Amino acid sequence: MEWREDRLFLLDQTLLPRKVKMAACSSVEDVTDAIRTMVVRGAPAIGIAAAFGIVLGAKASTARNRNELLKDVLDASERIGSARPTAVNLFWALERMKNVLLQNETDNVSLLKDLLLKEAHTILSEDRETCRRIGLHGSALIKEGDGILTHCNAGGLATSGYGTALAAIFAAGEQGKNIKVYVDETRPLLQGSRLTAWELKAAGIDTTIICDNMAGLVLKEGKVNLVITGADRIAGNGDAANKIGTYSLALLAEAHEVPFYVAAPRSTFDMKLQCGDQIPIEQRDPDEVAVFQGKRIVPEGVDVYNPAFDVTPHRLIRGIITEKGVVTPPYEANLAKLFD
Ligand code: MRU
Repeated sequence: MEWREDRLFLLDQTLLPRKVKMAACSSVEDVTDAIRTMVVRGAPAIGIAAAFGIVLGAKASTARNRNELLKDVLDASERIGSARPTAVNLFWALERMKNVLLQNETDNVSLLKDLLLKEAHTILSEDRETCRRIGLHGSALIKEGDGILTHCNAGGLATSGYGTALAAIFAAGEQGKNIKVYVDETRPLLQGSRLTAWELKAAGIDTTIICDNMAGLVLKEGKVNLVITGADRIAGNGDAANKIGTYSLALLAEAHEVPFYVAAPRSTFDMKLQCGDQIPIEQRDPDEVAVFQGKRIVPEGVDVYNPAFDVTPHRLIRGIITEKGVVTPPYEANLAKLFD
């Protein structure tokens, strides 16, 4: 992700791994569409894109004072916020951008626009640092010879560039640990096989793709001794929403006594929510399931259910790897400390 010539450039994730192409966003609509259609995806990445979307909205504004600019920014914020409901990083970033205007009383609109751009860059650079720290804390859980299973893509593509779950794996690799990573392909949009495998291969990590329904066997065969995934929103009790299929994986890990960890920055926590039942789950177009590579694979007239996320209850999570360290149960008390 890159801000240049007053535009936001995104690596188009819908085209990977076949094509490496940047998509340029010049307006609030462009950014909203890019998030909705998953040109950019992954919780921290959509938060960062949203922040630059606000910059583009402010740039187009003809406001003459702070209040008028605030009105335009709130309008842009509502449009961008409607793109996807589950990952809280999106709303967290929009809130930070709004606060720039609330905290600066000047009516110098040009200065306010500069401050908005500065805040978007700060969100981007803070995420870089945060991911490095998650990588450091997460890699301490990984030993030489480990078999690790991950789901969806919680890598550089889903963040500012280093990832959360994959940050732990990248850092372990950089430390010279020999590890083997199994990646669920992640139906229906294949973030695992298209994106995670692409990133891990580029980092020189031993990577094997499995279909989502092979995870049970791989765990039973003892090929995996650690599961790490990312998260899109974590409630105050530690319940964690992540890509659909994560919950099944956590149950399988429990059944095979393999520790299941979630890696996420503090911007992914929604401490206003007491439990995971309160997390809104995005429902996506049934054709994402019913149509594969342009061909319909489900008989016409058959219903398709396509929730994009599920919630893993905290009792299945051994620890949550954050930039401040690994939080372990009891989550309510320990997460409250994390945000103190
Ligand atoms: O629908 P997606 O591809 O945006 O879902 C992404 C995930 O579920 C990731 O695991 C999550 O956002 C963590 S990204 C560091």
